[in-house]
Amino acid sequence: MPEDEQKRSYEELEREVARYRAAYEVMRALGGTLDLDELLDLIITRITEVMEADRSSLFLIDWESEELWSKVAQGVRFMEIRFPMDLGLAGAVATSGEILNIPDAYNDQRFNQDFDRQTGYRTKSVLCVPMTNKEGERIGVIQVLNKKSDDAFDDEDEELLSALAGQAAVAVENSRLYEDQKKSFISFVETLSTAMDARDPITAGHSSRVTLYSLAIGEVLGYSEKQLEVLNAAALLHDIGKIGVPEVILFKDGQLNDEEYKIIQTHALHSLNILEKIHFVRGQKDIPMMSATHHERLDGSGYPLGLIGDDIPEAGRVIAVSDIFDAITSRRHYRDRMEFIKVLRILDEESRKNQIQPEFVSAFKNLSLDRIVKILEEDNTELVPGEDMELFAAVTLGEFQQLIENEEGDLSADERDLVERFKCAYDRCHDGSRTDGN
Ligand SMILES: [Fe+2]
Repeated sequence: MPEDEQKRSYEELEREVARYRAAYEVMRALGGTLDLDELLDLIITRITEVMEADRSSLFLIDWESEELWSKVAQGVRFMEIRFPMDLGLAGAVATSGEILNIPDAYNDQRFNQDFDRQTGYRTKSVLCVPMTNKEGERIGVIQVLNKKSDDAFDDEDEELLSALAGQAAVAVENSRLYEDQKKSFISFVETLSTAMDARDPITAGHSSRVTLYSLAIGEVLGYSEKQLEVLNAAALLHDIGKIGVPEVILFKDGQLNDEEYKIIQTHALHSLNILEKIHFVRGQKDIPMMSATHHERLDGSGYPLGLIGDDIPEAGRVIAVSDIFDAITSRRHYRDRMEFIKVLRILDEESRKNQIQPEFVSAFKNLSLDRIVKILEEDNTELVPGEDMELFAAVTLGEFQQLIENEEGDLSADERDLVERFKCAYDRCHDGSRTDGN
């Protein structure tokens, strides 16, 4: 073999090895995430590189509506696009299951020029392959556009993209399975929690409000999505143990005696015992302890276990702040909401007395007033004027506390106005349900 020919074939071989190594990397990376958006994005980015294409798209088939949909057409990332399954080259592949390798899209009648027209892109070569799952069902289509080096994609490209599409299909199916499991888990948790809340009309909505406050604190603390998911479940289930408390005591109208109070307190241990019987997946195993420790106090004076400081799971300490806030801001049939300034002073006092975590109280006070109003009213804020909500959005709870602590002092007219508007929203003066003397 002449030397230059030998060199060429060696270079080709090297290129091939590099491509297959890159393809192997793609396959490995696909196992790294179960988040569907992230996964689709990853598939597209990596496949574009490996296929030496200019851009790629992945369309999933919605067999029910007979549509193709995508969230990650590059350039318009994370926008959902939907179109009928029989449209364009991707549609043709989705319908037939055959690979399409077109050197010049504009010479093919099936090519839908709308996307190019809308985006100003100019498609030339297209390689489009079906994604088939392990059961042999078509679940989507991967399309790569405009091969960079040559005019068209070749047989090897077809082979490589088909192999990658097969791996992508497995990864997408796993991710969907995981999403489904997650959904069914959270709907199970929500159902339990709603059933619990519905049992006691006096504290109706308590678990869901405590959950919303806790998640808001978690966001301020910079929790990841996973941490928020776990916190969500732990907070929704925190009072599940009340199932084990007799109704005569739970719903007693008036002061509880010592013995009754002790029985009420058993709900935290009941929460632990009940939740420990549920099989939680990896990463969620601490939920029973997180839920059951919402009455623990930093100095060890809480219950059920009398844990001290960091021995109390962090989520338990976050839920404790939310639980106290909701208990004193919710209405009972025998009393209205506690005056707001007193509520904030109680949180400060509890934090000063080493009962609840000062950092979490600070995080809570970082929330904007509109967020607090929305949770207090469980999103039924139609009666609060929109302009009031806009004003509330610009002020944090901590800033507002400074204003009301200083109410007798020199507030500007705007500040005084804000205080009045919030008081009105808090006391529900708009719906006429405000009781005299509050
Ligand atoms: Fe509780």
